[in-house]
Amino acid sequence: MEGQLKIPRHVAIIMDGNGRWAKSKGMPRNYGHVQGAKMVEVVCQAAYDMGIEYLTVYAFSTENWNRPKDEVDALMKLLGTYMSNCLKTAKKNNMCVKVIGDKTGLSEDMQRRIAQLEEATKDYDGLHFQVALNYGGRDEIRRAVAGLARRVEEGTLKADDITEEMIGNALDTEGIPDPDLMIRTCNELRISNFLLWQLAYTEFYFTEVPWPEFDGEELRKAVEAYTKRDRRFGLVKEP
Ligand code: FPP
Repeated sequence: MEGQLKIPRHVAIIMDGNGRWAKSKGMPRNYGHVQGAKMVEVVCQAAYDMGIEYLTVYAFSTENWNRPKDEVDALMKLLGTYMSNCLKTAKKNNMCVKVIGDKTGLSEDMQRRIAQLEEATKDYDGLHFQVALNYGGRDEIRRAVAGLARRVEEGTLKADDITEEMIGNALDTEGIPDPDLMIRTCNELRISNFLLWQLAYTEFYFTEVPWPEFDGEELRKAVEAYTKRDRRFGLVKEP
């Protein structure tokens, strides 16, 4: 079976349904996030074992600040703990971790943990794992455009010379190939401001399975569905 699978180089995931899953078990929403964080590790391992090179997960959006304060605090605590624990697990799995999103909007403590993790794992060449944190696709494009506009103001760039490649390189995902497959769990059929620029030609896979139950087997099902797709980039069919 393994040989018949077409392995996407980059998989992006909107991890949805932690709250609903917890509620269905009569538990508080935060219990769902804790279980969701465990599944992140399970799916990272499964992705690596399958030969996926890049995995990007949507952990906290620019809109998630509007949730009740105790939920935001619990999520930040969980993410902070993850960053610290990951220092050990990343080494074991040869995993290079990056955070995408506006880091300046995060606490100093979180920024320090992220910088430490990114620095410690930057030379690992196993799975490239991106965590989207305080991330919004529109905000990312706005920051990229502002950076290019500053160069135009300084006189080092002409507006008409701006290419799509330059915009791509000004995004947080610079150097990372666009996702081949985007997965969203728990029956929501939206992209919710995730990787707006990068998902232009990506195949989408939606499943009813809530994130805390999305394991290696579910990832395999998504890759099997992807394997059957006939990908098209504009008018050109993939060879
Ligand atoms: C969506 O579920 C999930 C989130 C907003 C947070 C995702 C965070 C994690 C999985 C935990 C930590 C992540 C890492 C990288 C360690 P929801 O709360 O919107 O669920 P609902 O739609 O059922 O309410």
